[in-house]
Amino acid sequence: MTKIGIFYGSTAGVTEEIAEKLVEYFDEGVCDLYNMEEDFDDFEDMLQYDYLLLGSSTWGSGEVQNDWRDPLVDMEDEKPDFTGKKIALFGAGDCNCHGENFVSALGILYDYFKEAGATVVGEVPTDDYTFSKSHAVRDGKFVGLPIDEINESEKTDERIEAWIETLRPQFA
Ligand SMILES: Cc1cc2nc3c(=O)[nH]c(=O)nc-3n(C[C@H](O)[C@H](O)[C@H](O)COP(=O)(O)O)c2cc1C
Repeated sequence: MTKIGIFYGSTAGVTEEIAEKLVEYFDEGVCDLYNMEEDFDDFEDMLQYDYLLLGSSTWGSGEVQNDWRDPLVDMEDEKPDFTGKKIALFGAGDCNCHGENFVSALGILYDYFKEAGATVVGEVPTDDYTFSKSHAVRDGKFVGLPIDEINESEKTDERIEAWIETLRPQFA
C-alpha cells in the first residue's frame, strides 16, 4: 500500500494517542508518524506523501493546537502546492465546555489545505455529536473526524474504526 504521512499537534497527548491508534489500522510500515512539535521541518516533509492524515486538537476559542501555528503562517508565505494530495483530518475537542467551537481547528486546517490544492476526504456526519457550533462543519458535515475523550471516550474506538473504513477506498 502507498505510504501515508500522519502529522499531528497535541498538547496533552489526546490527539497523539488518536494518531498512534490510526497507525494500527494500516499494514505495518505504511504510516509514518510526525509530531508537529518535534518532527516537522518544512512542507517538503508532507509533500513526499500522496496520502496524509493531519491532526490537531482545538485550543483557545476555536484555534489550532500551538504546534500548527507557525507552519500555517509559513504556508501563507511559501504557498506549498498540495494539488493531487489526498488529506483527511482528525482531532480532539471538548463538546461540553467548548461546544460553541467544537473541534473548530479541523475547519482551519481544511481551509488552508483546500486553498493549497489538496483534496480533503473523510467527512463525518454530525448526528452522533452534541455541540452548538463548529467551524469544522461544512455542508452539514464535519470536514474530518472529531474525537472527544473528555465526554465521550467510550465512543472513540468505534468512531475511529468507522472513519477508517470510509477512508480505505479513498486511500487505495
Ligand atoms: C483553555 C482550553 C481551550 C480549549 N478550547 C477548545 C475549543 O475551542 N474547542 C474544542 O473543541 N475544545 C477545546 N478545548 C479542549 C481540548 O481540545 C481537549 O482537551 C483536547 O482533548 C486536547 O487534545 P490534545 O491533548 O491533543 O491537545 C480546550 C481546552 C482548554 C484547556
